[in-house]
Amino acid sequence: MSERETWATRAGFILAAVGSAVGLGNIWQFPFKTAEFGGATFLVVYLVAVFGIGLPAMLAEFVVGRKSNLNTIGAFERIGYRNWRFVGVLGLLTGFWILSYYSVVGGWVLRYVGGSLTGAYFGDAQGYFGAISAGPEAIALHAVFMALVVGIVAFGIQDGIEKATKLMVPSILAILVALAVWAFTLPGATPGYAYFLSPDLSQLRLTVDTTPSFPWLTFGGPLAAIIPFAVSQAFFSLSLGMGAMITYASYIDGDESLFGDSATIVVFNTAIGILAGLVVIPLLFAQGVEPGSGGAGALFISVASAFADIPFGRVVGVVFFLVVLVAALSSAISLLEVVVSYAIDNYPVSRPQVAVGLGSAIFTLGLPSAWDTAWLTWFDTLAYQLLLPASVLGILVFVGWVFGRPGVEELLRGTGFGDGVGSLWLWLVRTVVFLGVVLTLALGLLTLFG
Ligand code: PHE
Ligand code: NA
Repeated sequence: MSERETWATRAGFILAAVGSAVGLGNIWQFPFKTAEFGGATFLVVYLVAVFGIGLPAMLAEFVVGRKSNLNTIGAFERIGYRNWRFVGVLGLLTGFWILSYYSVVGGWVLRYVGGSLTGAYFGDAQGYFGAISAGPEAIALHAVFMALVVGIVAFGIQDGIEKATKLMVPSILAILVALAVWAFTLPGATPGYAYFLSPDLSQLRLTVDTTPSFPWLTFGGPLAAIIPFAVSQAFFSLSLGMGAMITYASYIDGDESLFGDSATIVVFNTAIGILAGLVVIPLLFAQGVEPGSGGAGALFISVASAFADIPFGRVVGVVFFLVVLVAALSSAISLLEVVVSYAIDNYPVSRPQVAVGLGSAIFTLGLPSAWDTAWLTWFDTLAYQLLLPASVLGILVFVGWVFGRPGVEELLRGTGFGDGVGSLWLWLVRTVVFLGVVLTLALGLLTLFG
């Protein structure tokens, strides 16, 4: 095995991790799931999940990655727990599954860059989305997007991933701020802000009833429907439960505060999601679109028809979708990197070979989603209600109960914090965070099969 790669700089790691986190999850999924699941109530649960569950869980993944310096499956073995490799396998499969349809949506974004340039969607935004989002054209776009991802990953972490993400973060922030300011000036935007930002506290209700028959428990109240999507949205958005953060942390060479790095990543990621919501949700209201009616297409249809209405709409459209494209690419590379990293750590294969082979397999798995958006929705639902919470739960149980103290020591390395901070984290992972994910998984499964 050749010398394992590392990040060139600490900033390189943070940028790449931000690049992984910030993606379609922020700009596409987050606004549309928020609109679908009750606006501000969803936002409240999401924020609690991001900071209360996502942040400690991200630290857990960083600990496993940096401690082992190995891919997401080998990591468990190297730190002494061969039998826990299944957690890595679950993450790897979750990433594989998600990338298959993520790439389909990436293909739509690619198409919208061109569509903005030529003004193709200006007359009929709804019809345009319908035409390009499913069927042969969507398959072709999915192929092109996947080819781009494979191309970047084939170049390796320093030349490919580190460089590709450097430009993304500043440009995405700038363009979202400008669009949010513009959305603010739209007539009719105000009810959008109310929907997005002022929670109806009476909605924060969860009831539990026991029943004599299987499944023995039933849940009620608005939160029963919101929690599985809001918490899983936090995982999806923070790139947790897919081995991505384990893999990226495994390339860290040296001591640095994992607290500082994770706080930066979480804050950036949340800010960009909220900014995207401040663009998309007022837009929906200004156009009189019922929130929650748009589904997966909401972002594309509403944003595109807004661009058709404004001066320089083509230029704005091209810039906007290009930025979304870069964000989607930097996330997709991290998903492919998880599997590629595993393969090159274990088999005598070259990086480009594996990137092409696995990229083709993921492309194939994405074919149903590209053929019909109903499949895409199904793939997405299964990821949210089952795969993501199950995979994060596996990591938490491992780090909390099995790995224990050595994990705390690894977490504290390079921080200057006393043991109290580490012990608090371990306690949280074992209690609040653990229970939150168990509840999410239970609610997800009950809605899936109930
Ligand atoms: N976090 C990314 C997003 O919000 C998606 C992603 C998930 C990327 C998992 C890598 C791993 O778009
Ligand atoms: Na994200």
